[in-house]
Amino acid sequence: MILNKLLNTSKYCPINNKKNTKEYFVSLLTLKGQYKNSNYYITNHCMAYINENYLKLKAGYLFPEIGRRVREFAAANPGKDIIRMGIGDVTQPLTPTILKAFHDGVEEMGHKSTFKGYGPEQGYDFLREAIAENDYKLRGVNISADEIFVSDGSKCDTGNIQEIFGDNNIIAICDPVYPVYADTTVMSGKTGACQANGYFDNIVYMPCNEANGFIPELPATRPDLIFLCFPNNPTGTVATKEVLKLWVDYAIKNKSIILYDAAYEAYITEDTIPHSIFEIEGAKSVAIEFRSFSKTAGFTGTRCAFTVIPNELFAYDLKGNQVAVKPLWMRRHTTKFNGVSYPVQKAAAAIYSEEGKKEVKGLIAYYLENARIIRESLSALGYTVFGGINAPYVWVKTKNNLTSWKFFDKLLNDANVVGTPGSGFGPAGEGYFRFSAFADRENVIKAMARIKNLTY
Ligand SMILES: Cc1ncc(COP(=O)(O)O)c(C=O)c1O
Repeated sequence: MILNKLLNTSKYCPINNKKNTKEYFVSLLTLKGQYKNSNYYITNHCMAYINENYLKLKAGYLFPEIGRRVREFAAANPGKDIIRMGIGDVTQPLTPTILKAFHDGVEEMGHKSTFKGYGPEQGYDFLREAIAENDYKLRGVNISADEIFVSDGSKCDTGNIQEIFGDNNIIAICDPVYPVYADTTVMSGKTGACQANGYFDNIVYMPCNEANGFIPELPATRPDLIFLCFPNNPTGTVATKEVLKLWVDYAIKNKSIILYDAAYEAYITEDTIPHSIFEIEGAKSVAIEFRSFSKTAGFTGTRCAFTVIPNELFAYDLKGNQVAVKPLWMRRHTTKFNGVSYPVQKAAAAIYSEEGKKEVKGLIAYYLENARIIRESLSALGYTVFGGINAPYVWVKTKNNLTSWKFFDKLLNDANVVGTPGSGFGPAGEGYFRFSAFADRENVIKAMARIKNLTY
């Protein structure tokens, strides 16, 4: 029947002016092995098709839209001193020890005896072992170097990870949160359409609001993959051991997998807050962890991060057989990625030297002091503020119930300060605003003085 429908509705190809043959459709349907998307094939097959999932995405990614508005404002107001506290990009340079290691790595590339070509796709042992020792073993967590995959960024890893999981998985995402999780879920074809309220069908949203302290509650509908991000971007909230234990137990009980983004782990100042989900008993059987040197050591432009997939993490095939996840990511990583450059990995390894550790601590203390200034200044001005203690982000409730974008425009026009509208992180972020503490100190102080003069 489906074949007849295809033959009857097949159109003439505008390029070769021919109709597809019965043999063509038979082979196409056989190849696809499924008829449910057969409408897709009704046009004559003589053109390249796009991934239709991209059409479901909302118009623009948040940060390009901020960039557009700021460019328009700057063009209309030349000479205005605009302070940027929007996109979460760092401003302080690489520290001396890291820079020296970077230079040394480059120097080695210039000599035949030390030159390196392709390295191991998963990262050099010297870096993976430094990570295992310092980020895990010293915290009492047993992660071995062979469970660590070095990459060029957590943005890529948190997006790409979905590729090794089936399209039939249901994904749970906090609202608001780093937009990459939702957008890459859409791109990978795991969702339906975007509804008027901004939610995509087939995603389990977990609202994070003042009432729950911006900590998601366990979902009523069981998801297969659960994105968690602590310290959180954008709310700056952290999860206690008790909270993470609830999630790990939930994942064990429900055979779900937690995708734990700990890009801001280095900003945790309170001793009782876990730095890794693997500090929680049982987590190695249900979680993948993403870490990045971007915000830890100023690597946003240098590019280096890593993903940890424990040997004991399993998912299931359609017959219900357990399948180890790590070999799948290994296959994906080694097929589609050729490793981070040697000098960059040398620079990253220097973060774990005694001097490197001290310098990076200083860098983080600088940004956290900015966060304190933002938090306390805005609080003194009567704003309700969250975060900024264990995270470089301060999450602020707008005044006079302004929408996030109205507040963005007011701040840009009246104070020439750029922040990030909370609604850009998800519908529940409406009415909130994110300030990033990554600006220069003098700009942070100047921005706070300008906000003090805002009139409503
Ligand atoms: C929560 C979160 N994860 C990951 C990233 C991206 O990190 P990377 O620079 O390693 O791609 C960011 C960057 O802003 C982030 O906020």
